[in-house]
Amino acid sequence: MTKKTDFDHYADEYNSLLKEQLSFFSSDNNYFAEYKVLQLKQILKTQPKTILDFGCGIGRSSFYLKQHFPNAQIYGCDLSEKSLSAASAAMPEGCFLSMSEIEKASFTFDLIFIAGVFHHIEPNQRPSTLKLIAQLSKNGTHVVAFEHNPFNPVTRHLVNTCPFDEDAVLLKPGELKNLFRLAGLKNITCHYTLFFPSSLKWLRFLEKYLRFLPIGGQYLVSGIV
Ligand SMILES: C[S@@+](CC[C@H](N)C(=O)[O-])C[C@H]1O[C@@H](n2cnc3c(N)ncnc32)[C@H](O)[C@@H]1O
Repeated sequence: MTKKTDFDHYADEYNSLLKEQLSFFSSDNNYFAEYKVLQLKQILKTQPKTILDFGCGIGRSSFYLKQHFPNAQIYGCDLSEKSLSAASAAMPEGCFLSMSEIEKASFTFDLIFIAGVFHHIEPNQRPSTLKLIAQLSKNGTHVVAFEHNPFNPVTRHLVNTCPFDEDAVLLKPGELKNLFRLAGLKNITCHYTLFFPSSLKWLRFLEKYLRFLPIGGQYLVSGIV
């Protein structure tokens, strides 16, 4: 079994490593973080008041969740304490919690957003992670997870060369959908996303016609508790 990536080790250089990795696609490494939140916005039918960024890392997505859902209270949780400190420093209005704090939490969220986390969780641990996510949900909570698309050769190359992806075990969309189903989520949908680098962002309006094609850089699975 590959050794689990310790994200404490990468918290300081996470942004610069990502910038290096994605430089071919965008000069702004925040482009893909915002892209995911914009995708999320398109599929939501109601405005969430509380959002949990599960596996928030240094808070790259949390920042855009606040930008695009200004009336929501943003929470984050992560295994990496050092990443949580960086997230809190970058976004003091957020509430960033350790895994032991979130496991003991008695509150639930309207929306749980999970970006690029499941491929870092060992396959046999994934059902219990979804069980925890279900515990943090109430009737009607929307759960949305973005994952790397293993059918896209460029995505696979990026994962194979990324230092903090050394423990990555990519999931096919069907596997993630099945995990959602096993955790009791309903109205499960899935589509491919992240088709356009920033230089072609003006083509993003086409994404809704392409989402069934397994060539997007990532895919997203959405379900309701
Ligand atoms: C690739 S980073 C993504 C961070 C963030 N979601 C983003 O989009 O920038 C993966 C994150 O998942 C966290 N993680 C891995 N396994 C986890 C688990 N079982 N529970 C919570 N967080 C986890 C890692 O510590 C790391 O910060």
